[in-house]
Amino acid sequence: MRIYQAAGDRNLLNEPADKGDQMEITPSSTPPKKVDPTSPDGVEAELARLGNNLVTKFHVLVRISQIYDSKNVALNQFINEFLETINTLIKRNGVLSLKIIKDEFFLNDQRLRYSVEGFTSFKYLSSHWKKRLIGEVKFKTLMGEEMLRHFIYAFIKLEEGREENADLFKKELESHQITSIEVMPLEIDEDGEDFTLEMEDHRELGKKIFFETIGTIKDVITNIKGNQSADIRKLKRLAQKAIHLVIEDESILMGMTMIKNYDEYTFNHSVNVSIYSLAMGKRLGFSKKILTELGITALLHDIGKSKIPRDVLNKPATLSTEEWEMMKKHPLMGVEIVLNLKQLGEINPRMVVGIFDHHLMNDLSGYPRLFLRNEVSLFGRIIQIADSYDAMTTPRIYKKIPYTPEQALAVMLREKTVHFDPLLLKIFIGLVGIYPLGSLVLLNTHEIGIVYKPNHDPKWLDHPIVLLVDRDAKGDAKKELIDLTDTDSAGNYKWSIVKTLDPHKYHIDIAKYFL
Ligand SMILES: [Fe+2]
Ligand SMILES: [Fe+2]
Repeated sequence: MRIYQAAGDRNLLNEPADKGDQMEITPSSTPPKKVDPTSPDGVEAELARLGNNLVTKFHVLVRISQIYDSKNVALNQFINEFLETINTLIKRNGVLSLKIIKDEFFLNDQRLRYSVEGFTSFKYLSSHWKKRLIGEVKFKTLMGEEMLRHFIYAFIKLEEGREENADLFKKELESHQITSIEVMPLEIDEDGEDFTLEMEDHRELGKKIFFETIGTIKDVITNIKGNQSADIRKLKRLAQKAIHLVIEDESILMGMTMIKNYDEYTFNHSVNVSIYSLAMGKRLGFSKKILTELGITALLHDIGKSKIPRDVLNKPATLSTEEWEMMKKHPLMGVEIVLNLKQLGEINPRMVVGIFDHHLMNDLSGYPRLFLRNEVSLFGRIIQIADSYDAMTTPRIYKKIPYTPEQALAVMLREKTVHFDPLLLKIFIGLVGIYPLGSLVLLNTHEIGIVYKPNHDPKWLDHPIVLLVDRDAKGDAKKELIDLTDTDSAGNYKWSIVKTLDPHKYHIDIAKYFL
């Protein structure tokens, strides 16, 4: 309960401790968190870092080798970089296996979670393997340069859709006296899911838009920090794509907001606030034009923080009065940045005011202080709700354990009227559900599940679609979805929610289920 109290005050009230949402910019090439590589967490993080590196380098090499022949010097640097990563991994465990199960990569049986930068490489490589029906590659001894060259060229020679590819691959390697690399065919699910994954279904599209937008907002912020011009038009295109998806099925992108990436906080946060805002705008019946404006405004709402020193933004302790005064200037600094954009034509007054207003609070008690106006703009009111909810449910440098979605909504309800527009808050709750998306719940069947999708009929807000947290023999999530409106032959509900649980107590990584 103590944590609950502390974070609520921090996010909603204007106390110096409330930094709202901080901006953390980390160079993409370095690991953002310092971990002790000998601790269990550290070992896992180190393996994840190396795994991401491996997939990225593998991807680059596959692309490059399609352009140049195997003797071309242009390849040398990439071969050497890949060799270094791969041998580091082989040395660690004696063997290195990279395997695809469903849509995921596993490195020596540990599932690899991709970084934002790694997304394109993961996507490309898994699609490349699947089209060629390759499921696993195992390196059993340290690799040499020539071996790697033969391996890559044997790999790209494979034709799409041939079931005998794994055998052909093996024979090709053997013709170069290479026997220490094993290649296994793709394991096809009984339901044939792997054959259909190539089709860009909505979920895949959602992931693509989500990660692309995070990458783009990162570029925009980095450019603004370096006083360079930023490309707002790309953000606009992405917002338009997201709107299509939100109109079609908002729950896909809403699910993505559960991927709370601590290391990429600002970028993730901006995109999440935009998703929540768009979903609210859709419910408010906004036109596509207004939705696009709202989406861009939400993406840029904290852009002013790019001018605040990093040590203030990342300070784990309470801010001093001066630091807090500086922090409170970020809405105004955001306005200044936006008005100085080269592509000012993409910006209109509604958007500028939205950025200015997003910490103003419903009763105007927030910041910046106003003298003339007596109401908060609609964009500002929408973004404020989205902003507070996302900030509260995300782990932060000064608060490692965030609120559960349910706790966050409870705090917001307690603070309604003062801080939030009550009607908009009602719409937001309708959006995330009585049991908000991402809540961990205990069912009457003693099963544990995660609220995966709210039921869109308001009558069934307390009967969401739930993903059962169950594991198969290998310990992987089964991902079985149940609909809490389902009844048995006697007309009784098959499942009902008994109570919500704290995912941290159960060591359940909710984000994993939404990726
Ligand atoms: Fe924010
Ligand atoms: Fe803000």
